[in-house]
Amino acid sequence: MTQPAHAVFRGCLVDTPALGALRIRPRGALGIDRRTGRIIGVAAEPAAGVAAAALVGGWTGSHVDDSDVEVIDLGADQFLMPGLIDTHTHAPQYTFLGLGHDLPLMDWLEKYTFKHESQFRDAELARTVYADVVRRVVRAGCTMAAYYGTIHLDACCVLAETIRAAGQRAYVGKVCMDANSPAYYSESTDESLQATEAFVHAVLAGHSAADASLLVRPIITPRFVPSCSDRCLRGLGELARAHELPVQSHLCENPAEIAFAKACFPGAASYSAIYHAAGLFGPRTIMAHCVHMSDDDIRLVRECGVGVSHCPNSNFSLSSGVADVRRLIDHGIPVGLGTDVGGGYAPSILDAMRMAAAASRAIVAARRDSAQPAGTPLDAGELLFLATQGGARVMGMQDHIGTLDPGKLFDALVVDLAAPGSPVPPPSATPAVLEHQRDGRHEQAWALRAEQFVFLADDRNIARVYVGGKLIHAL
Ligand code: GUN
Ligand code: FE
Repeated sequence: MTQPAHAVFRGCLVDTPALGALRIRPRGALGIDRRTGRIIGVAAEPAAGVAAAALVGGWTGSHVDDSDVEVIDLGADQFLMPGLIDTHTHAPQYTFLGLGHDLPLMDWLEKYTFKHESQFRDAELARTVYADVVRRVVRAGCTMAAYYGTIHLDACCVLAETIRAAGQRAYVGKVCMDANSPAYYSESTDESLQATEAFVHAVLAGHSAADASLLVRPIITPRFVPSCSDRCLRGLGELARAHELPVQSHLCENPAEIAFAKACFPGAASYSAIYHAAGLFGPRTIMAHCVHMSDDDIRLVRECGVGVSHCPNSNFSLSSGVADVRRLIDHGIPVGLGTDVGGGYAPSILDAMRMAAAASRAIVAARRDSAQPAGTPLDAGELLFLATQGGARVMGMQDHIGTLDPGKLFDALVVDLAAPGSPVPPPSATPAVLEHQRDGRHEQAWALRAEQFVFLADDRNIARVYVGGKLIHAL
């Protein structure tokens, strides 16, 4: 039987249209058109007794039969929210997840990372590993991710195909490394540029006409400045410009890395200036980490509209430092969250929200006794923003995903706080929630439950995952 063209969700809607603006609609309704995968309308509180077909008719301006609409009533412990967005992850690094955090970045790359990634010269290994990786990322509620592959063209094509088959939205990058890299895991400049171009064509060729849904797209991926020659960086900048592609890389993660990058380009005014000179800095650029940013770095990142992927788990795990996200945000720089597997050990943006909370609290605590103003730590609503609309902005996708607004693609999660084994306590065990519920303050009750979701939930609470209106995962 074919599915009705429309679906209407009825129940609690949670999203964050702006930083600090947690929007809760306890008795909302949201309609989607499955043919376009987009949200067609949202009602904060439709009048009692109005049929879903009448709502859809109002949104579309044409008569709609009951049979054209599937009604999905959310349970008392469920809410609908935008999908989580991972703005920085390394698919091959799942092979050593949770291992090797004894060393700082540059030694960690040499001792563990390059060895594991080099194994992906075997495309069959990629097929097995990447199927698990993508399943795992989707199960954690991630509807869009910016993935790094390895230097290998075939394995990167496998990664892109695997993501497309899973129905997840993604940027996928072939990693480029033509300098200062071990012989067993490096490429010549020409190989790097040619394989990147071939990868871009392969991924774009995989787009069907229906791929107005912007599902899987290539992203230009110099690993970081120390791994790339000047010609490589400039060639990649040219490819990004010619194909209007996004760019991703690492920036100012660790003091030894920054010193190395500057030593590779002795004339450069800052780390950022090296990417900028190569044509790699623009509003479609994602820079991961940005822990140790000079004023010059901040200025260039802001002026170019570059987005920052905050990867707090990795920044703690590799002893890189604590990124001052509030400073970046206050400068008007777009910020989203990244897992950076395996620099970090957790493949979930739920974890990234908690680690971002810890990082911001660490900064406030460290400043308490200093002359600097301590600032305010990130609250649950702000963390949700970074994980959704903030991430969408970093991806250059803020008009398409990130909130539950009409016209956007329906990339969303049904969260079930009462799922079997749920680590989130029920309202009966949370007097503050119960009290609001009893007194009819449903918005306040849901605000507390959303906060519990941020700090306590895991995969067991991600009941359903939708991308472009399609259900791609259900418990
Ligand atoms: N810098 C260059 N490569 C990497 C990587 O794989 N992980 C992290 N965290 N930083 C990097
Ligand atoms: Fe990384």
